[in-house]
Order: sequence, then C-alpha cells, then structure tokens
Amino acid sequence: MKLLVTGGAGFIGSCFVRTALAEGWAAQVVNFDKLTYAGNLENVAPVAEHPGYRFIHADICDEDSVEQALRDEAPDAIVHFAAESHVDRSIHSPAPVIQTNFNGTFTLLEASRRRNIGQFVHVSTDEVYGSIAEPHEADERYPLQASSPYSASKAGSDLLALSYYTTYKMNLSVTRASNNYGPYQFPEKLIPLMISNALEDKPLPVYGDGQQVRDWLYVEDHCRAIKAVLDKGRAGEIYNIGGNCSLPNLDVVKRILKATGKPDSLITRVMDRPGHDRRYALTNAKLTGETGWEPRVNFEQGLQATVDWYTRNRNWVEKIKSGEYRRFYELNYSNEKPSR
Ligand code: NAD
Ligand code: TYD
Repeated sequence: MKLLVTGGAGFIGSCFVRTALAEGWAAQVVNFDKLTYAGNLENVAPVAEHPGYRFIHADICDEDSVEQALRDEAPDAIVHFAAESHVDRSIHSPAPVIQTNFNGTFTLLEASRRRNIGQFVHVSTDEVYGSIAEPHEADERYPLQASSPYSASKAGSDLLALSYYTTYKMNLSVTRASNNYGPYQFPEKLIPLMISNALEDKPLPVYGDGQQVRDWLYVEDHCRAIKAVLDKGRAGEIYNIGGNCSLPNLDVVKRILKATGKPDSLITRVMDRPGHDRRYALTNAKLTGETGWEPRVNFEQGLQATVDWYTRNRNWVEKIKSGEYRRFYELNYSNEKPSR
C-alpha cells in the first residue's frame, strides 16, 4: 500500500505519517506539504530516514505539482489533511483559508479523478455543524451551519468532495473529527497555547466567559479512526470522529494549570472571538458501528501525555514562537485581546 498524505508536516498529518510507517499501515508514505507557518519537518523527523518515506515540498493549489506528484508516485490512496486550520487566523485573514481549503481541495480532487486514484479520504471537522444546543449531538446528517471562514471553507470542501463520489463515482469518504490535542500541535490552538503559556508563567487568555464546550479527541485516536475509514469506510459516506469528552474551555484550562503546577491566577479573561460557536457535540455511533473504532485515550491520560511532551520539548515551542508566530500575534492579534 502506498499512501499520499497531504499536510503531513502539520499536527495531525504528521501523527498519521509517523504512525502509518511505524505500525505498517502502509509500506510507503509520500508526504505532500507546502510547509506553511504550521508545517514543520521536525514533526516527521522520527521517520525521515525510513525507507518508505518520501517528502514533496509543494502546494495543493498548484495544479502542475499535484499532477506530477500523482503521476510520479501513483499512490493507492490519498489522505487529505492539508488545510489552513485555525479559526482565529481565518477571521483575520480569510483569503488563504478559502484558497487552500476549498480551491486546493478542488485541485487535488480533479487530479485524483484524472489519474483514477483508488481511494480518497477527505479529513474534515465537526465545526461544519456549527453550534449545537444542549442536549443534541450531531450525526452525519445534521445540517451544516458553519460560523467562521474556516468552518465554511471546510463545509464547502466537504460538499465538493462528496460531489466527486456522486458525479464521478470516486471512492471517497469524508471524516469529521472533533477538537484534537496531543504532541506537536502548533501553539495557537487552545491546549498547546495554554500549556506553553503556563510553562512560561504567562497569562492564559480565555475568550469570553470560558463556558464554550468542545469535544476533545486525542490525536492518535483520530489517526486510528482514519485508518479504520481507509480499511472499512464506505464510499460516499461521512464519518464523525469524536473523543466522547465534552468540556467547557475553562475546565480544560484549569486542568492544564493543575497538571503544570501553576496557579489559577494566570487565567486572563479576554475579548470573545467573533461568531464564537458555543457548543460542539457529535456522535460516533456510525463509525463505531461500522468499523468497531472507539477512542482509547481518556482526557486525563491524554492531557498528561501532552503536558509531559511540551515540558520535554520546550525547544520545539521556542523555535516556533521566535518565528512567524510572533509576527502574526504581535501585528494582528495580541493587542486586540484586552483584559477585562
Ligand atoms: P495544521 O495547521 O497543524 O497543519 C496543516 C498542514 O497543512 C501544515 O503542514 C501545512 O504546511 C500544510 N498545508 C497548508 N496549506 C497547504 C497547501 N496549500 N498545500 C500543501 N500543504 C499545505 O493542521 P491540523 O490541525 O493538523 O489539521 C489537519 C486537518 O485536520 C485539517 O484539514 C483540519 O481542518 C482537520 N481537523 C483538525 C482538527 C484540529 O483540532 N486540529 C479537528 C478536526 C479536523
Ligand atoms: P481552538 O483551539 O482555536 O479550536 P476551535 O476554535 O477550532 O474549536 O479553540 C478551542 C476553544 O478555545 C474555542 O472555544 C476558543 C477557545 N480559545 C480560548 O478561549 N482562548 C484561546 O487563546 C484560544 C486559542 C481558544
């Protein structure tokens, strides 16, 4: 089995690449990544010398590069992670988000259709369902109600991907996962940002009242779920992937402070995110029923493993924070998050 993974230098894609080679899910893995601010070859350093690993530095929006990669590599399947993945950035700067998430997905789908790629898994998010009132949970037929440019771009790309099944009979499935956490996550998302700030005794910026609810999924469980979809998922189907762990943000932040041994006084209430979804909730029943997959890592274990990883890998965070990250936050963002 030869897999082509887009976005394999990012947080989830790199976990998938490392695990696929370590566990023998595929003999060969081609990592196709543009290396944006979020792509980092250190994330795949553990497999860089693996004989089955190959890296292509290219953009999914570039038709020629995509065409050439599919022609030269002739993968059996594509797992498509590459995206601009951060809601806050999509609010400040929507253009690259639409370009990569929608147009880039289109370029990849078209090339895959032309070259008759055997299987395509489009990796998406539960954010496409928008905010869900208690006590409901989204199943895969729940209406789409995207709130941010990020979630709208993912919802659009989901529909586009599914149209390639309906129209061209492409062997394609869509996965919609909840909020991931774990090692190697870029420190702009809630959990790694709060851990790295806590380790540096910096304020932990909680948006609004901190009562927004997210479902937390350990990244390795997400990757195993995608493998289950590759093996047993049906074409034209959508599969939710949740962690069975709904928590308000403030609880998550307090648990991080406890795990890092830092005081609650580091919590700083800041301005809320525009269009902030109040609650995400989804059911895994379809994926579990069809493949037997279930999340294995509970939040307590997963958070401890994550805190331990960030504690041991301060250099990884430091390098990121000294580069584009700092420019983005200094120029666009941090001064718009006043304390209340
Ligand atoms: P990430 O931001 O950590 O990584 C994205 C990767 O894609 C980077 O390596 C980047 O260089 C690459 N990339 C971006 N634009 C590209 C382009 N035009 N061409 C080629 N490569 C490009 O993202 P992540 O958190 O690992 O998310 C991966 C996927 O999973 C995304 O599709 C995201 O929507 C989805 N997802 C993420 C979460 C989450 O909690 N992080 C939850 C559900 C679904
Ligand atoms: P995030 O990790 O950005 O993921 P998403 O917006 O895709 O769910 O945010 C998770 C939750 O944490 C979300 O409700 C926004 C909130 N949040 C904060 O309160 N402070 C922060 O600094 C960040 C980055 C997020």
